[in-house]
Amino acid sequence: MYETSVGSLVFKNPVLTASGTFGMGESFADFYDYSLLGGVVLKTLTPQPREGNPPPRLYETPAGLLNSIGLENEGFDAFERRIKENNPFVSWGTHVIVSIAGDDEGDFALLSQRASRIREIAALELNLSCPNVHAGGMTFDARSEHVYRIVASVRERVEIPVFVKLSPQHDMVANAREAERAGAHAVTISNTFLGMAIDSQKRSFVFAKKFAGFSGPAVKPLALANVYRVAQAVSIPVVASGGIASGEDAAEFLLAGARLLEIGTMAFVKPRLVVEVVEFLEKYSQGGRIIPLQ
Ligand code: FUM
Repeated sequence: MYETSVGSLVFKNPVLTASGTFGMGESFADFYDYSLLGGVVLKTLTPQPREGNPPPRLYETPAGLLNSIGLENEGFDAFERRIKENNPFVSWGTHVIVSIAGDDEGDFALLSQRASRIREIAALELNLSCPNVHAGGMTFDARSEHVYRIVASVRERVEIPVFVKLSPQHDMVANAREAERAGAHAVTISNTFLGMAIDSQKRSFVFAKKFAGFSGPAVKPLALANVYRVAQAVSIPVVASGGIASGEDAAEFLLAGARLLEIGTMAFVKPRLVVEVVEFLEKYSQGGRIIPLQ
C-alpha cells in the first residue's frame, strides 16, 4: 500500500476523487468499491440549497471539459439530515472529505463548525475557487487577505484537517503561503482554469455566465507546473488536481511534489480510472516512496 498522510490523517493511498465530479457518492458505486481509494471528496455544499446555473452546463473540447454547474447542491441542512437518517459513509471504508463554500467568511466558519461535528467527516476542503458563481468568474481567493481570513477563522473552529482549494486565476504561490500561515493542513492545486465557449453560428456565448471552468487532460502541463511551484514554496502538503488521465500522469504529479491526487474529469470517461491509478502507483512505487524532483 502506498500510504501517505496529511496532518494526523493517514490515507491508505494518495488517490482521491475530485470534488464536483463525484457528486455525493451516488454515481460511482456500481463501478468500484470506494474502500479501494485513499478518500473521496464530495460535491461542494453551501449553507442554502442551490439550483445551479441554467443549461447548458457542460461543453466538451478536444482534450477537456468546460463546466458551469454553479455549485448546485442540496444545502447543508438537507445533507446533515440525510447523514443522520441513513449514514452511507460508514460502509464506504474510506476517508470522506467534505467540500464547503458560501457567500462570505461567516458561511465558511459556520459550515466548517457544523461539518466538524459529524464524526464520519475526515477532513474539509474549503472551495475558495469556484469560477461559476460570481460575475466574471471572480473567486474568493482573488485577494490573499481573504484566503488568510477564511482559513484562520475555520481553523479556530475545527480540529480535522483543512484543505484549501485554490484557483489558477490568481497568484497560487502567494495564496498557498497565506493558507499555510493561517493554519491550513494542505492546499489543493487547483480548481478549474477560467475558460469560455462561443457559438459562432448563433453569435453568442455558450454559457449564461459567459465564463466557465476548464479541466481535463488539456490542463495537465499547466497543473503540473503549478503543483511544482507551490510545492517548492510551502511546507504543507499539496493535493494535485488537473487532468490526470492515467497512472503515469499520477506518478508525474507525485514527482512534481504532490502528496495526494484528486481525479475528476477523466472519471466521466473512464469511471474505474481511480482504481487503475491506485494499482499503477502500487507497482510504480515498488513498496517505497516516490521522491519528488527538485
Ligand atoms: O460550477 C461548479 O459547481 C463548479 C465548482 C467548482 O469548480 O468549484
